[in-house]
Amino acid sequence: MSERWLTGQVVENRQWTETLFSLRVEGAQLSFRAGQFVRIALDIDGQRVARAFSLVNPPQDPVLEFYGVIVPEGPLSPRLARLHPGDALYVAPNPAGFLVLAEIPDAETLWLISTGTGIAPFLSILRTDTSRFRNVVLVHAARRANELVYQDLIKGTKARYVSVVSREKTAGSLEGRIPAAILDGRLEAAAGMKLDAATSQVMLCGNPDMLKDAQAALAQRGLRKHRRRAPGHISVESFW
Ligand SMILES: Cc1cc2nc3c(=O)[nH]c(=O)nc-3n(C[C@H](O)[C@H](O)[C@H](O)COP(=O)(O)OP(=O)(O)OC[C@H]3O[C@@H](n4cnc5c(N)ncnc54)[C@H](O)[C@@H]3O)c2cc1C
Ligand SMILES: NC(=O)c1ccc[n+]([C@@H]2O[C@H](COP(=O)([O-])OP(=O)(O)OC[C@H]3O[C@@H](n4cnc5c(N)ncnc54)[C@H](OP(=O)(O)O)[C@@H]3O)[C@@H](O)[C@H]2O)c1
Repeated sequence: MSERWLTGQVVENRQWTETLFSLRVEGAQLSFRAGQFVRIALDIDGQRVARAFSLVNPPQDPVLEFYGVIVPEGPLSPRLARLHPGDALYVAPNPAGFLVLAEIPDAETLWLISTGTGIAPFLSILRTDTSRFRNVVLVHAARRANELVYQDLIKGTKARYVSVVSREKTAGSLEGRIPAAILDGRLEAAAGMKLDAATSQVMLCGNPDMLKDAQAALAQRGLRKHRRRAPGHISVESFW
């Protein structure tokens, strides 16, 4: 069965670094929940090549926004990074995904924990109603300080922001990786919040190895995976 695609038009391609970019796309109307992803595609050598991308914009904003990294050997991401205003981008009509607030039980503190481009769904969620959580903490880990993107947007939200930089010392950021900072208490200290089963719900997004290691670290604090039939504290989305 042939698939129906929406055709959007790129209106901006913001280059944050040599490998990080954000696309803003008009003309492809979608109904989605903050935290969901949609497949976007280009025609490459006569084939439509599609990949999942999280929506950065909140649902009420009709301009779609995607935040990406160039995977040099990947077929799609280097081409997305080269798009110019006026270029077409195909968007699937059916956003999907369960990394959404409707799936998360009530808690005093909501932790949004990400690596790399995994911050994307949280930038959408943070611009929706999070009032049933007294505190929201956004954690973003990147290899280098210049990859700590969207700082102005984050400042405009109610989230406490904790950045983690793994490959250089950076004033104001934790050093190393998220799981280690969970285990030794540096993440809680930086956020000024408790990270435990009594107070916290945790959403994790990004590198699959981080998801695994962070869940192991959180398990030591008594947090377990959340499932509809077996409520817990950790909800995850893997980017590959
Ligand atoms: C639910 C979901 C949501 C996603 N949302 C985003 C998003 O918002 N932004 C985004 O850039 N990507 C996102 N991805 C990944 C995206 O779908 C593509 O895999 C990525 O853009 C690379 O595409 P590619 O065709 O160039 O290479 P691919 O052939 O798809 O990937 C090749 C390899 O690159 C690595 N890789 C893939 N994606 C990333 C990444 N984001 N960061 C670091 N390494 C990566 C992995 O090792 C992967 O095996 C998401 C994936 C899923 C499953
Ligand atoms: N050549 C390679 O071996 C290789 C491997 C992965 C990605 N890549 C490519 O590099 C580009 C950039 O990717 P990216 O930097 O956005 O994503 P990334 O490699 O996922 O790194 C983002 C952050 O996640 C951290 N991280 C990685 N594994 C972790 C784990 N198990 N637990 C906790 N944190 C972890 C990284 O720390 P660290 O700096 O300590 O890793 C870094 O701070 C992409 O093109 C990707 O395809 C290359």
